[in-house]
Amino acid sequence: MTRPASPCPLTSRTAAPLSGTVHVPGDKSISHRALMLSALAIGESQIDGLLEGEDVLATAGAMRAMGATIKRDKNGRWYVHGVGVGGLLEPETALDMGNSGTSTRLLMGVVASHPITATFIGDASLSKRPMGRISTPLSLMGARFSGAEGNRLPMTVTGLYPAVPLEYRLPMASAQVKSAILLAGLNTPGITRVIEPIPTRDHSERMLRGFGADLSVEEVDGVRIISIHGEATLNPQHIVVPGDPSSAAFLAVAALIVPGSNIVIENVGLNPTRAGIYTMLKAMGGNIEYLNPREVGGEPVADIAVRYSHLKAIEVPKSIVPSMIDEFPILFIAAAMAEGKSTLLGLGELRVKESDRIAVMAAGLKALRVTLEEKEDGLIIEGQAGNLLGEKEKQVTVASHLDHRIAMSFAVAGLVSKGGVEIDDRRPIMTSFPVFTALFKELGAEFEMGVSA
Ligand code: S3P
Repeated sequence: MTRPASPCPLTSRTAAPLSGTVHVPGDKSISHRALMLSALAIGESQIDGLLEGEDVLATAGAMRAMGATIKRDKNGRWYVHGVGVGGLLEPETALDMGNSGTSTRLLMGVVASHPITATFIGDASLSKRPMGRISTPLSLMGARFSGAEGNRLPMTVTGLYPAVPLEYRLPMASAQVKSAILLAGLNTPGITRVIEPIPTRDHSERMLRGFGADLSVEEVDGVRIISIHGEATLNPQHIVVPGDPSSAAFLAVAALIVPGSNIVIENVGLNPTRAGIYTMLKAMGGNIEYLNPREVGGEPVADIAVRYSHLKAIEVPKSIVPSMIDEFPILFIAAAMAEGKSTLLGLGELRVKESDRIAVMAAGLKALRVTLEEKEDGLIIEGQAGNLLGEKEKQVTVASHLDHRIAMSFAVAGLVSKGGVEIDDRRPIMTSFPVFTALFKELGAEFEMGVSA
């Protein structure tokens, strides 16, 4: 489905209790990696539960443009015929990454060690995001980069084969930077090593191993050393993608703050490098229970039961930040409804996500009459102790700045608002959670969907 050309608003209003059971769609991070590694394996892989959001479809388009054959059957199973590590072809036109930072950064790693040139383009949000964090290490491996001012898209990458193996200590906690280097290492002779002082999501490591790469992880005093041996041969796999804990978090927080709610969210991935939000919501007094814990696709998964709860303020320890880096917008909404003052700092990375999530969330929450203090690296939020947000009868409009998680966070805030919340543009939600409004409808909350201007 193509996007409407102009913004489409969405309005949410005070909701009756949410109830029922919903199934959360596939994890975005794992879906990107499943497509990339399948395209780099020799032969046909099958993927079930792939997230069919715009970001993941951008990755599929890029892998097709570089030679893989990718198809979907009518039951939703995806078939990827890979070309083998080293076998990628030079794309004939620029790779359009849309809004997807993960596609862009990981694929730059893939291209860096192939003897091809690729140009990456993206939407207005992606074109503002820093790519120097990727081009710096990959240049040390021999790839060449030429981008817009400030190392931004459009950016052309010329890979080098054979590339030079690298040992690199991550200067920021970023799974995208780590993964880009490991993916470049796949087609690089010798050992490429990433030193990770603060652990980030480990889906790349798990899946690379699953595809047969020679990858080892050592942990010394909490520092992770990840080594990959190139040039690797990847064997095709059957992958089952678990549900996305980041998407599930919007449903979970909605159930915690809408009085009387009682829901079950099925199929939630609970990899410890991703599940920080649930630990924090429980610490706030959230009634959250893990049911039927199991393993799906080499990742821990459970169904989670969530009931309306009286939330208390929280201080988030810095060590847990990377395991919930995408969940701060919705945690800010939970903090705004809690009792007491929440201190949410150490979040500098939020300023370079799809939008500046500290500034944009601060602006939206202030419009909802929440008292807060904006710091360089986070927010200090005075909770409303369960009282509704905003002013009576006064609808608030929030700008989502092409950021799906901002749009979804304020759509949830609208469910506990006095006068309703209008999001200026719901289109970005299609990047990661296309069934967002449909799942809320199943739980009994209907959003008003405005038409595009
Ligand atoms: C992702 C890593 C994180 C996260 C993003 C997905 C990934 O980005 O914010 O949504 O799939 O590797 P950073 O590496 O910039 O922290």
